[in-house]
Amino acid sequence: MDQFLKPGSLSKTLLFLFLLFSTNLLTFFISTTLYSPCSLNPPPSATNSDAEEDDVQVSDDPRTTSDLPPEFLAFTSAQLLPFGYNSNFDSDTIFPPVGRPCTLFPDELRSFMSYKVNGSCPDDELLAQKLLLRGCEPLPRRRCHPAAPPEYAEPYPLPASLWTSPPDSSVVWTSYTCKNYTCLIQRKKNKRFDDCKDCFDLEGREKTRWAQPGPGSGPDFSIDDVLAVKSPGTIRIGLDIGGGVATFAVRMRERNITIITTSMNLNGPFNSFIASRGVVPMYISISQRLPFFDNTLDIVHSMHVLSNWIPTTLLHFLFFDIYRVLRPGGLFWLDHFFCVGDQLEEVYAPIINSIGFEKVKWEVGPKLDRGPELREMYLSALLEKPLKNSW
Ligand SMILES: *[C@@H]1O[C@H](CO)[C@@H](O)[C@H](O)[C@H]1NC(C)=O
Ligand SMILES: *[C@@H]1O[C@H](CO)[C@@H](O)[C@H](O)[C@H]1NC(C)=O
Ligand SMILES: *[C@@H]1O[C@H](CO)[C@@H](O)[C@H](O)[C@H]1NC(C)=O
Repeated sequence: MDQFLKPGSLSKTLLFLFLLFSTNLLTFFISTTLYSPCSLNPPPSATNSDAEEDDVQVSDDPRTTSDLPPEFLAFTSAQLLPFGYNSNFDSDTIFPPVGRPCTLFPDELRSFMSYKVNGSCPDDELLAQKLLLRGCEPLPRRRCHPAAPPEYAEPYPLPASLWTSPPDSSVVWTSYTCKNYTCLIQRKKNKRFDDCKDCFDLEGREKTRWAQPGPGSGPDFSIDDVLAVKSPGTIRIGLDIGGGVATFAVRMRERNITIITTSMNLNGPFNSFIASRGVVPMYISISQRLPFFDNTLDIVHSMHVLSNWIPTTLLHFLFFDIYRVLRPGGLFWLDHFFCVGDQLEEVYAPIINSIGFEKVKWEVGPKLDRGPELREMYLSALLEKPLKNSW
């Protein structure tokens, strides 16, 4: 996730952004017209002998399905409701969802969906994550038992679990370069770039993140500074997007605020670690529609992850999705968004300003960790969804 756009190579104005939109809409229109994986049905020969007898349909068009694994077809095929027409659905059929791009990667999909029903799933976290990141999200469900450590240990009790590294035996390490937590903690000394590479050391930088307030501290807001913007107790539930090892959620928990943390497992067992600490991990990428209803969350936070590596159109949709799930008066804390040189003024500030949030704080500062010659900048913004007339 460390792809950076060259300075000045991006769209110069919002006009270009709208051009992008129309191009994408056109592409979407063409692709949905010419290619319709929504209507997948299994071919006559595709029923898995290991599978229970499913109410599977016979395909009208074997060309689109012949490459697809039987378990995929068994899951995604139209399923008739046992009691017939349901007025809530306005249908007698369920089409179980998977990401539209899943079928664009038939080889990976075949590998992912090859297992013995009711047996052990392949230990294939890396493959699954790759599929998911490419847009096969949600992944299809599987009828097998996921890889698990042979000697799983129960978590530490709360509150000790919040700041204690769990035992190595709580993780399946196959997909990661490191094979234990000692290695993950020490990798901050390595040259190799990893996402959040010093995060697993709970005695290191995590110890003070968001803890110290500071007037004049530029883009480093503290949690208490941010909460002070609202009446005490009115920030209760929220979401941290791409939240590393969930130190944000842990600190909020210590203030009796419930935060769900989304994270991928990019070369580290982030989801397992978050769960071991005793806060809730959610395994969805930044591309997925947020699984919350409109106007429900008090706060959405995101540090570093929402930045210039995300295609601009996707980012625009994402900001609107955050606006959607925040309740009126809810806070969006965009924490250390980064980009290069003029991109902030020319591309990103206009996008952020166009969503409809009110600005509470807006601090820009240099990002120097990779050297000043890259001209990278940080923006931290505290934005509020209007309490009245937010629609
Ligand atoms: C499915 O697997 C479980 C656990 O391995 C086993 O106890 C059960 O008997 C299996 N069921 C069938 C129908 O094979
Ligand atoms: C942790 O893993 C590294 C290799 O990744 C290994 O060299 C080291 O001995 C392991 N340490 C422990 C305590 O298991
Ligand atoms: C959190 O809630 C508990 C139980 O209601 C209470 O005792 C504690 O003082 C609260 N902590 C904070 C920081 O509000």
